[in-house]
Amino acid sequence: MYRTHTCGELRLSDKDKIVTLCGWVQRSRKMGKMTFVDLRDRYGITQLVFSEDHDTAIFEKANSLGREYVIQVKGKVDERSSKNKNIPTGDIEITVEELNVLNKSEIPPFTIEDNTDGGDDLRMRYRYLDLRRNAVRKNLELRHKMTIEVRQYLDSLGFIEVETPVLIGSTPEGARDFVVPSRMNPGQFYALPQSPQTLKQLLMVSGFDRYFQIAKCFRDEDLRADRQPEFTQIDCEMSFVEQEDIINIFEGMAKHLFKKIKGIEFTEPFQRITWADAMKYYGSDKPDLRFDMKFVELMDILKGFGFKVFDDAAYIGGICAKGAASYTRKQLDQLTDFVKRPQIGAKGMVYARIEEDGTVKSSVDKFYTQETLQKMKEAFAAEPGDLILILSGDDAMKTRKQLCELRLEMGSRLGLRDKDKFVCLWVIDFPLFEWSDEEQRLMAMHHPFTSPKPEDIPLLDENPAAVRANAYDMVINGVEVGGGSIRIHDSALQDKMFKILGFTEERAQEQFGFLMNAFKFGAPPHGGLAYGLDRWVSLFAGLDSIRDCIAFPKNNSGRDVMLDAPSALEQSQLDELNLEVHLKK
Ligand code: AMO
Repeated sequence: MYRTHTCGELRLSDKDKIVTLCGWVQRSRKMGKMTFVDLRDRYGITQLVFSEDHDTAIFEKANSLGREYVIQVKGKVDERSSKNKNIPTGDIEITVEELNVLNKSEIPPFTIEDNTDGGDDLRMRYRYLDLRRNAVRKNLELRHKMTIEVRQYLDSLGFIEVETPVLIGSTPEGARDFVVPSRMNPGQFYALPQSPQTLKQLLMVSGFDRYFQIAKCFRDEDLRADRQPEFTQIDCEMSFVEQEDIINIFEGMAKHLFKKIKGIEFTEPFQRITWADAMKYYGSDKPDLRFDMKFVELMDILKGFGFKVFDDAAYIGGICAKGAASYTRKQLDQLTDFVKRPQIGAKGMVYARIEEDGTVKSSVDKFYTQETLQKMKEAFAAEPGDLILILSGDDAMKTRKQLCELRLEMGSRLGLRDKDKFVCLWVIDFPLFEWSDEEQRLMAMHHPFTSPKPEDIPLLDENPAAVRANAYDMVINGVEVGGGSIRIHDSALQDKMFKILGFTEERAQEQFGFLMNAFKFGAPPHGGLAYGLDRWVSLFAGLDSIRDCIAFPKNNSGRDVMLDAPSALEQSQLDELNLEVHLKK
């Protein structure tokens, strides 16, 4: 037997037992005639003691152990004289009788400790060592627990897990496809699924009724803290349902996860906010509602007083930061610099402090009377000690997004974005289409299979941009953790959607013929949703990036620096694939 116990298991009640443990040498300390070694495995750390008086040979062997050596020890569980309250095994130690080095280790490139000295790049290159660290391993353990709970919840409701292929054709979710050349079909390519969207709809046509899959999805898009080129969805689809049914089942799943994993019980239904309100009041389709700081529009109050910036603006809006009137000039300058950063793009920021006596002192006092400024104060219901921050611009949507960044920044600065507080909401009534400046056409906001609201169908011809979708997102703490929609199950309506999206009949047939044909054979009304598993886990673990809950993630340029992928192909592989590589200049 390699081991009788793990390194996290032994307690004082095991005193005097003879045990065998295996693990890695975390660190060793030589103190005169005694050497102490911390032995680590996934389950914990156990202290080993080697004493020169007890056994010189083993003592010497112990002194030659390096960090991360893999060893096996046999010995007696003894009570420690100086106990370590910080670890569960801290009351005992093993007096070692036998030591067996199973494998040596080179000196690791960074310390395998909670607070490691390794930088990001180094840890990614040696990810298998990084995964030995508690902090990282814990995230994967949490991920495992969450998927078990997800499977249990969905199984209890009759969902069937079905695997769908990864080598498929294009599934448009608004990103670029990753493609794979086919050797057997020269010049042709598979696309990796951006999601199993069309396949799960086909499963509904097949009568599966309730499908789910913990599915890998692939999207070639710009990476951010909450985006990886390959990520995992809890992908679901149901037949004979309306939006309300889906919202109920998946709100239930969210509550189940919070209760089982975080011990948090949500008894009230999650808030719902329309997309239009989310944009108007928070400038985002994924508002962080851990704090209020709603936008107030000020066009009626501040236009027409000779302040050209506001007079020319299509939108003037602001937020009220409670208790921030004490902000110094320097802090306000920092905020102005913040909104002027190219990623945000505001031209400037106007501020107003509410003084102790209720008067308003603003950065544009010379244009406005105290009476006008008081009106503004009332619009915010601002009180003495508050700070009002205002942005304006000639494009309302763009300015709202800038104000959203400022609101989030102020939320962070004022400590209102507590990672242990969770506010969940549904954003509903998304527009069916959004205009793309790049493509100069309407694009599907969710995907082309999303159903318009029945009452908005008549608008499809005359004013498609005003059509709302039966689509919904779940948002937690400003993170979009999932989204879905009721689908079109009628081929005529689907044809029309493709037409509005600028597909010719031939192209629609070529790309989605399989789906449209399937719909001719009795497609049930259906709809679904996909949760982003990585985002759920990182929220639950309080992480800043989803990378930290993925065993082998990619870096920001989409590289796996450990595997050194992507890489060039061997000439022989290219030949087999009938490919020649000519890089465009
Ligand atoms: P959507 O594109 O909204 O919908 O994706 C669903 C959820 O997946 C997560 N997600 C991501 N997570 C990490 N990295 C990424 N690059 C990434 N992209 C998306 C988000 C998102 O809410 N087929 C539809 C679902 C449906 O209609 O049923 C879909 O994929 O949490």
